[in-house]
Amino acid sequence: MNYENILIELENNIAILTINRPSKLNALNIDTINDLHKAIKTLGKNKEIQVILITGSGEKAFVAGADISEFAHFTIAEGAQLASEGQEKLFDLIENLKTPVIAAINGFALGGGLELAMACHFRIASDNAKMGLPEVSLGVIPGYGGTQRLPQLIGKGRAMELIMTASMIDAETAKNYGLVNHVVPQADLLNFTKGIAQKIMKNSPFAIGRAIKAINANYKDGKNGFEIEIKNFGKCFGTADFKEGTTAFLEKRKANFTGK
Ligand code: COA
Repeated sequence: MNYENILIELENNIAILTINRPSKLNALNIDTINDLHKAIKTLGKNKEIQVILITGSGEKAFVAGADISEFAHFTIAEGAQLASEGQEKLFDLIENLKTPVIAAINGFALGGGLELAMACHFRIASDNAKMGLPEVSLGVIPGYGGTQRLPQLIGKGRAMELIMTASMIDAETAKNYGLVNHVVPQADLLNFTKGIAQKIMKNSPFAIGRAIKAINANYKDGKNGFEIEIKNFGKCFGTADFKEGTTAFLEKRKANFTGK
């Protein structure tokens, strides 16, 4: 898989996806969104890949937002289309992927960059990271799900303040808010995140995919999360992973899951 704006490394069933436009602080232009869409679709179908990590190239930025130079002259219709296509192609795709996706936030995660990190299943930050949704300072609002996912993660009042003031928070504040799960020195970020991926990979890929679906159901209109949980709990009972997991426990050995 070769893409112009992203790099992909495969390492022991983990795919490390690096957004690679360092001279523009990895700003998300439409081509990069398309590259990410194609790569994540392909990786999501590959059963060998059990965890996807997303990070930014260089030491300064994860992603400093949507590419402002690209949308500065858009009309109302083009603006709406940018948001709706982006949400569908990338942000919702990641959120609903059955393969776990972790954001390793290595620097600025602003605007579309923070929205990308928030679409991931969870986030780890390096100690130099700075996060915010500064869109109103440009005369626009977050359009890649930020007005929805930020309050889900940090609460409505904090999200209102952060969005209205267009300010940035540091990594420790983000951790206190529950926006990121861990803060580590920048040099350790990828290894620390891979360590969490290793823990995830000891468990049933099938069950993990179903857990993601059930957790997400709580945040979807018209879905009853408890019912989705019951349905998917039941589905697990028909899988080889469930047989293997329960048998391994009873035989006092480690389970060897296949994801089926
Ligand atoms: N879109 C397009 N280009 C961007 C960008 C974005 N969101 N963020 C940074 N860049 C570009 C800059 O234009 C500059 O390009 P140039 O060298 O060709 O002029 C390059 O990346 C480096 O950025 P610069 O602003 O010089 O770095 P800095 O260290 O002075 O400031 C930031 C860093 C992150 C504070 C600043 O780049 C910034 O505020 N970016 C925009 C953040 C934003 O509003 N994002 C939301 C978009 S919806």
